[in-house]
Amino acid sequence: MTAEARQQEFPYTDTDFKQIKGILYDEAGIFLPSTKMSLVYSRLTKRLRALGLKSFYEYVLYVQGSGAKSERRQLVNALTTNLTHFFREPHHLDTVTNVLGPEAVQATSSGRSYRIWSAGCSTGEEPYSVALALLRHAPELAQRDVHILATDIDSDVVDHAKRGAYEKHIVRPVESGLLSKYFETGWGPNADRYVVRDTLRSMTTFKTLNLMQHWPMSGQFDAVFCRNVVIYFDEATKAVLWQRFASAIKPGGHLMIGHSERIAGPAREMFEPAGLTTYRRR
Ligand SMILES: C[S@@+](CC[C@H](N)C(=O)[O-])C[C@H]1O[C@@H](n2cnc3c(N)ncnc32)[C@H](O)[C@@H]1O
Repeated sequence: MTAEARQQEFPYTDTDFKQIKGILYDEAGIFLPSTKMSLVYSRLTKRLRALGLKSFYEYVLYVQGSGAKSERRQLVNALTTNLTHFFREPHHLDTVTNVLGPEAVQATSSGRSYRIWSAGCSTGEEPYSVALALLRHAPELAQRDVHILATDIDSDVVDHAKRGAYEKHIVRPVESGLLSKYFETGWGPNADRYVVRDTLRSMTTFKTLNLMQHWPMSGQFDAVFCRNVVIYFDEATKAVLWQRFASAIKPGGHLMIGHSERIAGPAREMFEPAGLTTYRRR
């Protein structure tokens, strides 16, 4: 079905798009340019069908209603962009193996914990890659006090990440030695998939968390990955977020960001460059 044909299925106006754009911004901080008007249509039609609604006008009224909290979550889940893959931006994973790995060994040998946060983890490929890159340096880190917190606003991708089951083509970027050691072939509905072994599960915790809201974690992280997440936010939101990350990272700790992202605003003073899209907290 072409975009035009689909648009005829449910009436959809510029005003509906503006209302949905406003709801997504309020809920998730995500800014939708007008070029995304047909994407919104195609991603939300299944919600209109599920709710038996006849137009986007009705959907907007429904989602604005005081009892529609769970529908607002569905709207966010439908409109987030979750593209990710294992060992994405491999220079960061090399830094994990060569810099964070030795730091984690040293910290845990001195009785301290080592904590990493993957903020905007999508379906889990990022935090599992971080765990694999640490284990590539020192397999014994799996038995140490090393922990990766992985969070995302989208509850569907968090559930996927918790399952830790990936189709074979998805795990292709994982080195064969790491794949055979830390994944197993699935069974039942996962028969065609590789499933993470308990070693990786024990190093990672997945939670739903909206970066625009309160962060309930206590203490600071040794490293934060927030890659390809803030591209969807406006400049003011990004500046606030960088400052919040600065507060959440220990002095000397690392912040890894996406290839098209830059730290801007007052937080620039709080970080020094430490490699390609890699920063160290002053
Ligand atoms: C393109 S993916 C990036 C995944 C991974 N970090 C990577 O680089 O491969 C962006 C993720 O950010 C999440 N996200 C968007 N807005 C968010 C928010 N306000 N709070 C938490 N996560 C958010 C999306 O749900 C999506 O899974």
